Amino acid sequence: PASTTEPVRGDLAVGGVPLAEIAERFGTPVYVLDESEVRGRCRTYRDAFPDAEVLYAAKAFLCRAMVHWTAEEGLGLDVCSAGELELAVTSGFPPDRIVLHGNAKSPHDLDTALRLGVGRIVIDSPSEIARLAAAVGPDGRQKVMVRVVPGISAGGHKNIRTGTDDQKFGLSIADGYAQHAIARILDQPQLELTGLHCHLGSQITSVKPYLAAVRRMVGLMTRLHEQHGLVLPELDLGGGHGIAYRPGEQALDVMALARKVRTELADACATAGLPVPRLIIEPGRAIVGPAGIALYRVLTVKHTGDHVFVAVDGGMSDNPRPALYGAGYAPRLIGRRSTVDRARVTVVGRHCEAGDVLATDAELPADVRSGDLLAVPVAGAYHLSMASGYNLVGRPPVAAVRDGFARLLVRRESLTDIRNRDVGL
Ligand code: LLP
Repeated sequence: PASTTEPVRGDLAVGGVPLAEIAERFGTPVYVLDESEVRGRCRTYRDAFPDAEVLYAAKAFLCRAMVHWTAEEGLGLDVCSAGELELAVTSGFPPDRIVLHGNAKSPHDLDTALRLGVGRIVIDSPSEIARLAAAVGPDGRQKVMVRVVPGISAGGHKNIRTGTDDQKFGLSIADGYAQHAIARILDQPQLELTGLHCHLGSQITSVKPYLAAVRRMVGLMTRLHEQHGLVLPELDLGGGHGIAYRPGEQALDVMALARKVRTELADACATAGLPVPRLIIEPGRAIVGPAGIALYRVLTVKHTGDHVFVAVDGGMSDNPRPALYGAGYAPRLIGRRSTVDRARVTVVGRHCEAGDVLATDAELPADVRSGDLLAVPVAGAYHLSMASGYNLVGRPPVAAVRDGFARLLVRRESLTDIRNRDVGL
């Protein structure tokens, strides 16, 4: 059914470069990052949180250029593997501005972190305490934080909620695990506890859960002060700041978050008689998500019963989010004008399963046909960083645009790349 008759102009440009030109030059599928949008978002955070430490959560998307942009804009980094850490440090990121996370850090992760001199390691489980202390050795001293589960439910989908006790991350306040682990950390001369950490979940669009987290965390800090005389200089509230994926959706208001969290923290600390700790936040999606666009070429259009399936040359291997979280997107036709009515279609990928959907209920001109170009906005976060090798289609390249120029940041994965890893017979 037609929904709107607004003509599609088809000349969408990003960073001064028409997207159709980028598709021609680099082929499809291709991911396009708007460098000034990424940098602008970093600055928005620095301006909103001038006294806080803003860590970009590298899991959302990482490449060498991204490391440079975040470093130049004054952000720190949150990494969760030796791979992310090595890429960051070998690309020139100062290791002391990096924080290492992970619910199950491997010996290799910990050894790499210690070898490279990572700023802080976030302890996520009791068994990690002794392992880390042993790895640091008798003469060393490593700054650590503790990941605490505050018992707050927030986040866009059950698979990305991490603030309650029924998930794998962190140490529960309610069960006393957090307090117990902290007491053990304080007994390790190799470990210097700088603060508490919590991460409620992802794609959170309300400020309220963060204010609740502040109260819970200051509550725990108060008890630690009473029991151990401990005054912790840092408080890390994690990331999770939600963004708008489709027109009409609401993003988390970062300015309101900054203002209200600052007030809540000051009030809670004043009541408890504690000094206000330095705040740390870890946005990933909100830095890079809206700055990325995925471009696909339409391969086939199939009409069946009530459905129109528009199949493109990518799919769940470069964007698993619809399949994993039921995530919604609003693809647009680019590269040609269309004045025909729009139709509701399902944009699907090229992979060998029916769940390979990129957008349900997409509104595209009814004359969408093979050879057309589709742009999927808000594709910068958790697409390529979660890309898989399914069906050996090869992972797409990443191009960056700035001031009217496009350049390649990450090249397309070729069959040669895939063959080179295949060393047995
Ligand atoms: N800090 C920690 C400890 C985290 O685990 C995460 C995300 C972040 C910060 C950054 O969260 P963000 O600001 O990006 O929401 N793949 C899912 C999202 C998983 C998030 C995992 N942790 C998705 O595509 O929605």
